[in-house]
Amino acid sequence: MTVPRFMALKGAGRKITMLTAYDHTMAGLLDATGIEGILVGDSMSMVVQGHTNTLPVTLDEMIYHAEMVGRAVHHALVVVDMPFPTNHLGPHRAVEHAARILKETRCQAVKLEGGADQAPIIEALVAAGIPVMAHVGLRPQTVHMLGGYKVQRDEERLLHDATSAQDAGAFAIVLECIPTAIANKITATLRIPTIGIGAGVGCDGQVLVINDLLGLTSGYVPKFVKAYADLKSTITGAVSQFRDDVRTGTFPGPGQEFK
Ligand code: KIV
Repeated sequence: MTVPRFMALKGAGRKITMLTAYDHTMAGLLDATGIEGILVGDSMSMVVQGHTNTLPVTLDEMIYHAEMVGRAVHHALVVVDMPFPTNHLGPHRAVEHAARILKETRCQAVKLEGGADQAPIIEALVAAGIPVMAHVGLRPQTVHMLGGYKVQRDEERLLHDATSAQDAGAFAIVLECIPTAIANKITATLRIPTIGIGAGVGCDGQVLVINDLLGLTSGYVPKFVKAYADLKSTITGAVSQFRDDVRTGTFPGPGQEFK
């Protein structure tokens, strides 16, 4: 998958599928399914590192994980989140940070949270040849300003953010936690693909955090998530079985021994 092919999927009659991955094993499994995009999301801060929000993860940590993902993926477009605050330190430093992501991993694009406020940064990155996916609506990196993870309903602002990101050169845009009717309007207005998460079925594509999709998430799970498996039960069941087999002397058995 290339950026132009990804963009051409809008209006081509096929929805775009995208999931997060943070390591080589998972990225390889996802890539083999034929999904179009893999996101090394800063959600890693929460689902891998155990933080309560996405703010603590560093650029070095994102690059370390993006390298693992990049080595596993041969088909999908791999997009890497710019972690807080790497896109807020001026255009020059944003290019420096995003260039590190492209130079040190095999990934092809970056994602940054922002719309109109990030237009000069998007322009600078695109001028440097760095493809940018924008992210409007709920922006988890601004959780302290928002006072929590809330549905965003300011239609005028959302439309302005989305069109500003497009006009600045973004090749696609994530719409997070916005009412379906507003997401539909943005999708109909933009030339670039919209990738929804909590933005309804009318977006050009959908993205989910892989841990949520596989039923691995403990505690609060957002309303927009659909768990397609219950791997938490599968894993704890398998490990409990192993524990019992070792304790009762049934593992290892004759099939796992050397003569
Ligand atoms: O970090 C992430 O996983 C994301 C997606 C939820 C869109 O930004």
